Amino acid sequence: MPESVRLKIKRQNRPLQAPYWEEFEVPTKPAMNVISCLVEIAREPRTFDGRKTTPVAWESSCLEEVCGACTMVINGRVRQACSTLVQNIAQPVVIEPMQKFPVVRDLVVDRSSMFRNLRRVHAWIPAEGRFEGPAGPEHSPELARERYEMSRCMMCGCCLDACPQVGPHSEFAGAAILNQIELMNSHPSGKDDADNRLEALMTKGGAADCGNAQNCVRVCPKNIPLTASIAKINRELTVKMFKDLFS
Ligand code: SF4
Ligand code: SF4
Ligand code: FES
Repeated sequence: MPESVRLKIKRQNRPLQAPYWEEFEVPTKPAMNVISCLVEIAREPRTFDGRKTTPVAWESSCLEEVCGACTMVINGRVRQACSTLVQNIAQPVVIEPMQKFPVVRDLVVDRSSMFRNLRRVHAWIPAEGRFEGPAGPEHSPELARERYEMSRCMMCGCCLDACPQVGPHSEFAGAAILNQIELMNSHPSGKDDADNRLEALMTKGGAADCGNAQNCVRVCPKNIPLTASIAKINRELTVKMFKDLFS
């Protein structure tokens, strides 16, 4: 392992301002991740050629690949800075903000569009009035296992960032949102509201916009079977369309 880590970081002072690049060098430490490099830079922000600069802005919280806050593009791949060890990647480490979300500053992006879409598609199970009644329907162990896989999503946005169908050219909500709908629709108590969720998808940005490029599956840090969720949603949409047609 070399004694120092070289980093090339894409920076941006404010939303909509022109980005620029700065290079840094920090001393290597054992098991150093990209967040530790950013912390080192923040201690005394100087570029590789000795010029004083401002600390790089980034977000993080859990530091164990659970919250998704530290998601950024590292060496061309969208991933979490807390779980990316510099010893495992090429140098200089090239770091950019996520590409499908507006930049707030440096590596901090605004991912609120993802959460707005979760609201739009009713990605929850209404609980009002359910506590007083009898216990809800049971999960079979098979269904629980299947739903556990889907439930591991941390809404990091990697799947949206890597998807060619997500962007200003389309209103496609993205794999994470479709996966959440399937997670709720497959819950024995969530089925009651399944039609509402599917209805929201039948407008613009629904499952039909997925081009099946599979980039989402390749970048998902939780290995969620996203294309399987999308295929299930597509089947549910087809059934709903026929039901609506003949009702
Ligand atoms: S399969 Fe492709 S088009 Fe569909 S959500 Fe995944 S990356 Fe996007
Ligand atoms: S599905 Fe995977 S990549 Fe997409 S937001 Fe969830 S955890 Fe991140
Ligand atoms: S800080 Fe939570 S995923 Fe990296």
